[in-house]
Amino acid sequence: MKPLPRKQGRDAFLETAGKPSRDSEGPSRGSAEMVKYKILVATGDSVFAGSANLVHLWLVGEHGEADLGKQLRPLLGRKTELEVDVPLHLGRLLAVKLRKQKGLLDSDWFCKSITVQGPGTQGEAFFPCYSWVQGKETICLTEGTALKVTDDTQNLFRKYREQELENRRNVYRWGSWKEGLILPIAGSTERDLPRNQRFMKDKDLDFSLSLVKELKNFAIKGTLDFVSRVQKLEDYQKVFPHTKTALPERVRGSWKEDALFGYQFLNGANPMLLRRSMRLPARLVLPPGMEDVQTQLEKELKAGSLFEVDFSLLDGVKPNIIIFKQQYVTAPLVMLKLQPDGRLLPMVIQLQPPRHGCPPPLLFLPSDPPMAWLLAKIWVRSSDFQLHQLQSHLLRGHLMAEVISVATMRSLPSLHPIYKLLAPHFRYTMEINTLARNNLVSEWGIFDLVVSTGSGGHVDILQRATSCLTYRSFCPPDDLADRGLVGVKSSLYAQDALRLWEIISRYVERMVELFYRSDTDVKEDPELQVWCREVTEVGLLGAQDRGFPLSLESRAELCRFVAMCIFTCTGQHASTHLGQLDWYAWIPNGPCTMRKPPPISKDVTERDIVDSLPCLQQARMQITVTKFLGRRQPVMVALGQHKEEYFSGPRPRDVLKQFQEELAIMDKEIEVRNASLDLPYEYLRPSLVENSVTI
Ligand code: FE2
Repeated sequence: MKPLPRKQGRDAFLETAGKPSRDSEGPSRGSAEMVKYKILVATGDSVFAGSANLVHLWLVGEHGEADLGKQLRPLLGRKTELEVDVPLHLGRLLAVKLRKQKGLLDSDWFCKSITVQGPGTQGEAFFPCYSWVQGKETICLTEGTALKVTDDTQNLFRKYREQELENRRNVYRWGSWKEGLILPIAGSTERDLPRNQRFMKDKDLDFSLSLVKELKNFAIKGTLDFVSRVQKLEDYQKVFPHTKTALPERVRGSWKEDALFGYQFLNGANPMLLRRSMRLPARLVLPPGMEDVQTQLEKELKAGSLFEVDFSLLDGVKPNIIIFKQQYVTAPLVMLKLQPDGRLLPMVIQLQPPRHGCPPPLLFLPSDPPMAWLLAKIWVRSSDFQLHQLQSHLLRGHLMAEVISVATMRSLPSLHPIYKLLAPHFRYTMEINTLARNNLVSEWGIFDLVVSTGSGGHVDILQRATSCLTYRSFCPPDDLADRGLVGVKSSLYAQDALRLWEIISRYVERMVELFYRSDTDVKEDPELQVWCREVTEVGLLGAQDRGFPLSLESRAELCRFVAMCIFTCTGQHASTHLGQLDWYAWIPNGPCTMRKPPPISKDVTERDIVDSLPCLQQARMQITVTKFLGRRQPVMVALGQHKEEYFSGPRPRDVLKQFQEELAIMDKEIEVRNASLDLPYEYLRPSLVENSVTI
């Protein structure tokens, strides 16, 4: 949290804390009277959170500092209690400093918090930590009452804040992964990350063991794949996993239906691409003889029930070559109509945009021969797989959350109310993203091995998608309005995203009201302004031209920005992460690659389809990764359920409690709604949404 070199930490407080204060009470420095303090130190309960080393403690108050000596041996999962007599009244307690002594063994200690009872603590003073104490560094824990710079009229913490940020900016450095991409944390592997950003042992073990299990399965079953080939669509049953949920089975049974194809754009793994048509897309060239289709499209357009999904972002992306075999990528356009019963049905599929000097691309219709229509839909599903994983999930969920986390760690000190509000939403994001960069989208990573856009195309897509990262697209009320999805009853994603956004917004507003009394308070908070610039200008590489703010001028602007941060780290990611296993377990519904070029005629057989779909080894790898990442996480913290208390005092606690109550009501109502639905939608159910991006 705030590891300060001993000298820095001491000096920060020695400069200020020892000065007499007009507001202070009780006997001052030099009194012979002994003063009793009771100290409660809480150690983390994860394996190895305790330490064999003794810990040296100091109490820092307005009147001075008391050295308590090497008093404490922190034990795993325990609260250690100490009673000390101090020869001076410290006045209001400002901080606790601690340093671990080196013994024969040097073991790190995860300190949760320290509570102190005694004079000047108004009952008790709470010092949040939730950090590792390592080596011989001195950690300084400030009392948990959130303070802006301007609240600190006596300048008690001014130096401390500056030094903490200077230190953090050294530890949390911006890195760069690929040119033109929003910035990650510096570091090549997870071992380079700050210790406080690493997985705790329970997460680490669960992650490693489940990966080993899936890879073992892959190795055993995968050897048989070399002697068997996919001859017909049903052969993908060989890699179909046994899952605890019913949806993958349902997808396997109904994947050919137009209604399920359309449904996925509303409520599937990737609900981010669908938009209501305002006009017929320029790329849709209808050749002579298709006047009927034109009339139908215009009729739906006029009625406001015409929708489109345009994959133009994929146009011209270089396809992968996997084991000397060329793979294929297209950039389809799908036009769909929203029926009065809520079903979204495809009307036309164009697999490629028109090319200058070439005949207009073939258009596929539901009335085409069934295999031709099915292959066109499969091409769309494969294109959706690419944009889903790269644009919606990795870029807009994982990488965006990392920008927010790193910028916050670099710009907001631990005393700042917005730091305290956001900190629980950064857990494990830097490590999971580092793992993804090194294993999924790296050279020889999963994308290179089995995905049609791997080996560079995927980076191109991420770079192209960066230009679509608008501020409005991260705020569901704006995003859904822009896409014409507000009020669409069958868009369960839209309803749940709006509701979750409203609950998060109310939580943020209540918390902001506690610390910012006016717009001027916001404008005059220099740390807040630096933070906002760090996100927009540095982390997002100058996203002000896409609507991201460079400064925050009012409480309303602050609330929207902070709600965007929390929604991105939680709902945004969950809505594109949780559906992976449901929708990609049946390979033909979401193929990671296509092995044949798109059809140039409507004379298509089942054999043409299976020859286009992934081979069995590729399919098994897709299942292995999807199962590993898409399974429900046993080690998880649901939205708003974090146990860390960064704020002192009852009012922030009440605000969090209210947030939790509203989330519980939403959760229950989704449960009830889902019970009456043919296809339940649960990716934004608060009890399933993680509090941060961790997988
Ligand atoms: Fe994820």
